[in-house]
Amino acid sequence: MELDMKNNKATVFSGVQPSGVLHIGNYLGALAQWVEMQNQYNCIFCVVDYHAITVKQESQELSRRILDVVKIYLASGINPEQAVIFQQSDITAHTELAWILNCAAARLADLNKMTQFKDKGAKKEPACPAGRSVSVGLYDYPVLMAADILLYNTDLVPVGDDQVQHVELCRTLAERFNRDYGQVFKAPQVAVRKQGARIMGLDDPTKKMSKSASSPANYIALTDAPEIAAKKIKRAVTDSGSEVKFDQKQKPALANLLTIYSLLAGIKIKELEENYKGKGYGEFKNGLAEEIKKFLREFQIKYNSFTDQEVKQILRDGADKIRPVANKTLKRVKNKLGII
Ligand code: AMP
Ligand code: TRP
Repeated sequence: MELDMKNNKATVFSGVQPSGVLHIGNYLGALAQWVEMQNQYNCIFCVVDYHAITVKQESQELSRRILDVVKIYLASGINPEQAVIFQQSDITAHTELAWILNCAAARLADLNKMTQFKDKGAKKEPACPAGRSVSVGLYDYPVLMAADILLYNTDLVPVGDDQVQHVELCRTLAERFNRDYGQVFKAPQVAVRKQGARIMGLDDPTKKMSKSASSPANYIALTDAPEIAAKKIKRAVTDSGSEVKFDQKQKPALANLLTIYSLLAGIKIKELEENYKGKGYGEFKNGLAEEIKKFLREFQIKYNSFTDQEVKQILRDGADKIRPVANKTLKRVKNKLGII
């Protein structure tokens, strides 16, 4: 079965790493947007396992998480009949193209501007942010990401705010290769949601909600027991004052909770402000906790309904559909380089 890319629909590509727990930031910033895009576009959603190994993973845990990420995609509403779901390492063209881009397009000066390896390095080794313990893979990670995107002639890349820099680099690499070797790649556009592109930590509204946070109080995992999640909301940091009002500067913690509430419940922030007028933070948090519990209960029923066998079959089918497209692009690239 070959993927029908001959229709007039634009192509969407995105991915999530099977590392750490997935949280409502991933859902609201990325996955919810993917679900909305499925009807309108040719969608390709990848489990980027080779990105996950840029930092050390326990091997058994990694195997488990690859399948769990697919279950999260499915529970979010991605339909494998409409969108292609596959595992990055199943298509060898990704690492081959990454190597070619390393040589023919990426420059040290580009990668030195990327913030992620510095941030992740700083966590491991505070005195030496881009230092000894950062793998070469973590440094080179954005080039593999560019290869993921470029293999499928992608038009749009839906991601959270933190990935915008990487998609911009992908455009630069595509344009540089085309200029130096002849036209092959399409330079993609990034798609970032107006609301929800950067969900902040519940314990600290100045830092984004993150799967690698040191405390589980930072995030609501999509697999958290609903009662635990409700407690996390009730304990979440709030700002001074008591009025439920969206004010990013004066009330960043509340602004974050209002954003989460609005997106999960499908209620405009203005309306939430009206509903909670004169009621204070406590009542607002109770309302949000109920909303989160409802969301997680429904999400987890779906999540638990898929077997590992079903998921493995979806990954095999996805790889079979997508392989010819990737190999075709890789062949064109090799031709341009004279590797025939
Ligand atoms: P990762 O967990 O790093 O593989 O990210 C998967 C997707 O979720 C990417 O598109 C990220 O940009 C997005 N994402 C991660 N954290 C957040 C967050 N706190 N708020 C919004 N989107 C996020
Ligand atoms: N780097 C992305 C993240 O950490 C994951 C990713 C890898 C990705 N390849 C991609 C996202 C291609 C979009 C397109 O979230």
